[in-house]
Amino acid sequence: MRKQLEQLRREAGEALDKIKSLIDLEKAEIKLLGRKDGKLNAMLKSLKNLSEKEKKQFGKLANEIKNEITALIAEKRLDLEKKETLKAVEEDWIDVTLPGIKPKQGSLHPVSIVQYELEDLFRSLGFMILDGPELESDYYNFEALNIPSHHPARDTQDTFYIKGKIQKSKACPERNRGIKSKENQERLLLRTHTSPVQVRAMQEFGAPLRAIAPGRVFRYEASDASHENTFCQLEGLMVEKNISICNLIAVMKTLLKGIFKRDVKIRLRPGYFPFVEPGFELDIECLICGGRGCSVCKQSGWVELLPCGLVHPNVLRAGHIDPEKFSGFAFGLGLTRLVMMRYGINDIRLFNAGDLRFLEQFGAI
Ligand code: DAH
Repeated sequence: MRKQLEQLRREAGEALDKIKSLIDLEKAEIKLLGRKDGKLNAMLKSLKNLSEKEKKQFGKLANEIKNEITALIAEKRLDLEKKETLKAVEEDWIDVTLPGIKPKQGSLHPVSIVQYELEDLFRSLGFMILDGPELESDYYNFEALNIPSHHPARDTQDTFYIKGKIQKSKACPERNRGIKSKENQERLLLRTHTSPVQVRAMQEFGAPLRAIAPGRVFRYEASDASHENTFCQLEGLMVEKNISICNLIAVMKTLLKGIFKRDVKIRLRPGYFPFVEPGFELDIECLICGGRGCSVCKQSGWVELLPCGLVHPNVLRAGHIDPEKFSGFAFGLGLTRLVMMRYGINDIRLFNAGDLRFLEQFGAI
C-alpha cells in the first residue's frame, strides 16, 4: 500500500509538471482527486480491507498525499492563470498612440442652415415656427386663400393631384392643423406654396398672431437652372390690430438685414396675389451677377425674393378672424432662391441631386 501511495505521489508530481493549460489541469485534477474515479479515492476505498493499525498508518499518509497534491494543483493553477492572462493581453495588444480612423461627419443641407438661422431671427421677433402638411387639401391650398376653382391664378401654380383623403398623422399632430370637415380632407394635392399654413394657423390660434412656416412646396414644372418641381419657401404672417404696410416694410427690412448681414439693393413693385390686398413683389439685386444679368435672374439683374402684402379680408374670414377688428401682413419668402443668392449657387437642381461633392461644401454640423 505504501508503495502504491508513494508511486501516486511521484506520478502526480510528474504529471502536474508537464501540464501547460488550465483545461489539462482540470482533467488531471479529476483523474487524481476525483470522487468517483480518482486514483487516490480508489486507494482510500481499499483501506477498508486492512487492519485497524494499517488503516491509521496509511490513512494518514493518504491524507498527506492528498493535501500535497491539492496544494500542487492550486499552485499550478495560479501559475497557468497568470500565463494565460499575459498571453491574452499580448494577443489583444493595441497601440493606443496610433492616430484613429476619423468617422465621416455629416453636414447640414444648405437650405437647413439658412432655415434655422431665419427661425432664430423670427423667434427673437416673437414669431411662432409652424409646420403644415405637404399633402394639402384643395381647400387650404386655394379656396381659403381666395383662389376659387374658376380663378385663373390656379393656372400659375399647377401641381400634382392625388387620389384619396388626408390621413391624420399620429406621429406629428401639428400637421393635422385644420383637418376637421370632410371637405377639408378631400381633393388632395402636393401644396404649391406654404401659404395654406396661414389659414390653418389663424383657425387654430386666432388673433393676434405672429408665425412663420418654412417647408417644402411642389410645382408641376419643367426644371432648369432656376425652376424645380420641389423647392422650399418660408411663409410669414402677422395679424394684429392696425397692421399697415409700414409694419410690413419694417419687418421685411429687418429680415433682409438679418439674412445678408449687409445692405442689399431692393425694389418694391405692385404684385398680384389673390390672398393679399395690396400685394407687392419685393425684388433684390441679383447677387450672382451683381445686377449685370445671368441665367438665375433671367438676364434682368433682379431676383423676385419676397412677395408680400396685407392679408385679404376673405382670407382673414377663412381663418375665423374678423377683418373689421384685425388686419395683417403676409409674405412668402423663396427660401431655396435665397440660399442660392447667399452662397452663389447658380443651378437650383443641385439642391435635390444628392451629390455629396456639392452638399459637403456647407460646413459640418
Ligand atoms: N404663395 C405665393 C407663391 O408661392 C407667395 C406669396 C405671395 C406668399 C404673397 C404670401 C404673399 O404670403 O403675401 O407664389
